Formats: sequence, C-alpha cells, structure tokens
Amino acid sequence: MKPRVRTAVLVSGGGTNLQAIIDKSAEGAIPSAEIVVVISDREGVYALERADKAGIPSEVVPFKETGRGEFERRLAAALESRGVEMIVLAGFMRILSADFTAHYPNRILNIHPSLIPSFCGEGFYGLKVHKAALDYGVKVTGATVHFVNEIPDGGRIIMQKAVYIDDNDTPETLQKRVMREAEWVIYPEAIEKAASEIRRSK
Ligand code: GAR
Repeated sequence: MKPRVRTAVLVSGGGTNLQAIIDKSAEGAIPSAEIVVVISDREGVYALERADKAGIPSEVVPFKETGRGEFERRLAAALESRGVEMIVLAGFMRILSADFTAHYPNRILNIHPSLIPSFCGEGFYGLKVHKAALDYGVKVTGATVHFVNEIPDGGRIIMQKAVYIDDNDTPETLQKRVMREAEWVIYPEAIEKAASEIRRSK
C-alpha cells in the first residue's frame, strides 16, 4: 500500500473546518491523507489549540511582521522539512503568490463560502462573503472546494454544495448554516478525493 499523502493544514482563525477534517480523519473517512502539521500565520488562534488537542504538531509562521516574501520562504521551509505533499487552506486568510502556488500544482486546496464564481476573489472572505450574498439578494448560496492557482479563488473546482438562504438570515446565521450544511461536509470529502488521486500517482 502506498503511504498516505503528507498534508499540511493552513489556518488563520477559529478552525472549525480544521476540526471537521480532524474528526472525519479520526472516523477513518480520509484514509488517503495524513495531517502532519497545522500552520497558522498568526499567534494565539483557536485552531492551534484544536491541533494540540488532536495531537497534531503545529507551527506559527507570522505574516504581519515579515510580509509575504519572507512569510512564503519560511512557510516553504516548514513544509519541506516535514515532507509535505498536499496543502489544505482552512480559513487561511492570506493570498499565496503565483511563485508559491506554481510549486504545488493541483496540490493546494481551499474552501470558499460561496458558490464560485459568485462572491469570490480578492476581498471576499469570511463574513464579507455572506454579507455580499445577502446584499445582492440571491436565494441560494453554498460552499466551494477548489484547487489554488495564481488567481484568487480561480483554480479548478473539486466540489460544491448549495445552501438555501432564509428571508431572515443575517451574515452570521448564514455563515453558520453554510459551514454546517456545506463546508464541514464537503471539505473532508474533497480532501479524500484529491489525496487519493495524488496517492495513486506516487
Ligand atoms: C470559513 O467559512 C471559510 O470558508 C472562510 O472562512 C471561514 C473560516 O472558518 N474562508 C474564506 O473566506 C476564504 N476566502 P474556520 O476557521 O472556522 O474554518
């Protein structure tokens, strides 16, 4: 049997998607990937505690003090030292450069809380995405897992799931429902799908 795909999860915040991935992995639903490290671009975020509780090594590679160039050099070093083959962005709020993404073609996954190509691209992240959907007045939104390339939210789509909007939704209630009904469901599935393809090609 070929070894599991060594996977890093990159986070910036609360890490509920990370938790869903950890839980599904513990249930045996992501047999093709092994989470070898969780990396945050900021100190003190709850996602780091989630990693700790699950016994997964974690690192902070700070972005703010250094800027993107130095951040990406340090990130690449951390990934290489751990033999990482696949990168999962889970609420990671930085845009990676074209240079960086070119090193990992079809090896970086992201989840975005809308049905791409709606409400996506630079400036659309977190609650802002849900606010934009409500302001526009769409009646259906959802989540998308896609590969990451040099275009923000522009890489090939792996999986999507739709969620209906209620008349009295706020950005907060909608965010929560999109997470529960779509993100936490499709991200583990999409990770297994991508990892099993990488594993087969090893
Ligand atoms: C999630 O809704 C994720 O889809 C979104 O941020 C939230 C992070 O939550 N990501 C983006 O907006 C990326 N453009 P989490 O830290 O609890 O997983």
